[in-house]
Amino acid sequence: MISTAISEVARNIIRYAVEGEVVVSAISDRGRVGVQVVASDSGPGIPDVDLAMRDGYTTGSGMGLGLPGARRLMDEFAISSGVSEGTTVVMKKWTRGL
Ligand SMILES: Nc1ncnc2c1ncn2[C@@H]1O[C@H](COP(=O)(O)OP(=O)(O)OP(=O)(O)O)[C@@H](O)[C@H]1O
Ligand SMILES: [Mg+2]
Repeated sequence: MISTAISEVARNIIRYAVEGEVVVSAISDRGRVGVQVVASDSGPGIPDVDLAMRDGYTTGSGMGLGLPGARRLMDEFAISSGVSEGTTVVMKKWTRGL
């Protein structure tokens, strides 16, 4: 689930922003451990983020399922984007801990 979500945000960077970065980290909070994924780019940004999060919305030739799919696969999902501000997606997936 995590690798699929990473793949989707990485594909978006390549397709829409050309370059950017994906940083994967181990995180912990109150006895939980998890994985955080931060995908960021300084590309064109997304004019309407609510629209981009809808199933089937695409400005390209995709299926428009990458962002909403990644949100469903992960426990936490936040996106901030704006025209000429680039795009940052922060996603987390938790386990119960050891
Ligand atoms: N990093 C980004 N920079 C600019 N626009 C983006 C970025 N990521 C997503 N978008 C915009 O949000 C839309 C929806 O993204 P999403 O990943 O859900 O679908 P898609 O990439 O069009 O198709 P799919 O991922 O199903 O192949 C994109 O069509 C694009 O307009
Ligand atoms: Mg996509």
